[in-house]
Amino acid sequence: MGAKTGTRGGMPDLVPPLTPTRLPKAPQPVVSAEAPRWAFVDGRYVREGKAVVPVLDRGLLLGDGIFETVRVKDGVPEFFDDHFRRLCESARLVRLRMPWTSPQLEAICAGICRRSRLPDASVRLTVTRGAYRGTLSDTGDPPRLVATCSSASHLARSLYADGVSVSIATFPRVHAIDPRVKAIAYLPAVLARLEADEQGCYEAMFLAGRGRILELSTATFFAVREGKVLTPPLRLGILAGVTRKAVLRLARASGHGGREAVLRPQDLPEWDEAFLTSAVRGLIPSVRLGGQRIGTGRPGPVTRSLIEAFAGETGRLDTSG
Ligand SMILES: Cc1ncc(COP(=O)(O)O)c(C=O)c1O
Repeated sequence: MGAKTGTRGGMPDLVPPLTPTRLPKAPQPVVSAEAPRWAFVDGRYVREGKAVVPVLDRGLLLGDGIFETVRVKDGVPEFFDDHFRRLCESARLVRLRMPWTSPQLEAICAGICRRSRLPDASVRLTVTRGAYRGTLSDTGDPPRLVATCSSASHLARSLYADGVSVSIATFPRVHAIDPRVKAIAYLPAVLARLEADEQGCYEAMFLAGRGRILELSTATFFAVREGKVLTPPLRLGILAGVTRKAVLRLARASGHGGREAVLRPQDLPEWDEAFLTSAVRGLIPSVRLGGQRIGTGRPGPVTRSLIEAFAGETGRLDTSG
């Protein structure tokens, strides 16, 4: 590694060419390099290509930060009160100052999407503990806010129409920090997702002790048993998903139950259906888990009705997602 591999404009090029050893089979987001996207960094709107974070940022060097991913539909951030509340709770739990108000952050979300001409987008709000000054201690530097956006149009209809496969991570996700914190350190989730890619799966599931299902790398898991919607309990140590809350409410309102329950992959034969949820993707049917078929192997009626109810509530009728 690090060997000189060529020259560009007379300068040595120390970066070896990328030679992917495997290509993921799962559907992947396609991001257009041409998209004239905007970001918000250190109090200013900047073209994404020109937006920079100092190399001594604690988020970069220490993973010392928190974030939210917010879906924007028709220019309006969805469920923003819930996202703001969770961001503040994350900040409180990791003792990070949060000087921004909900209207300010909501305006920034809408602002970068408007400038980027992306009415249908996902926005990532990242807050780090600011500058690293050679110590892990809090040196009183102001926190740094970075907001970026990307198009939500990569969400292929086939995900919703056909459903996806989920793998089971081969290692436990060990938490040193409260799982309610949406912390930027996603290396365990990345590693689980790389395993999923190798197996041609779209998502990866983490299990707790005694085979209890926690959540997926970036989503909440739901199963449908005897027509009733079930999801792992928060007390097991999972993120309180914003979409999870909305879907439990919709399930209850439509007579499909909607409650917490300890779920295990070994109980899969009892499930009729399963799905995953996240703010960006809404509900996506999960039709296989750990190589085994769930129900008929096709998106089931309860999942489909909840996808419709969620699309109706959020106005995502064009994507179903
Ligand atoms: C670990 C984890 N669980 C669950 C979720 C879903 O949460 P939400 O519905 O708020 O997007 C996410 C979203 O990124 C996540 O990273």
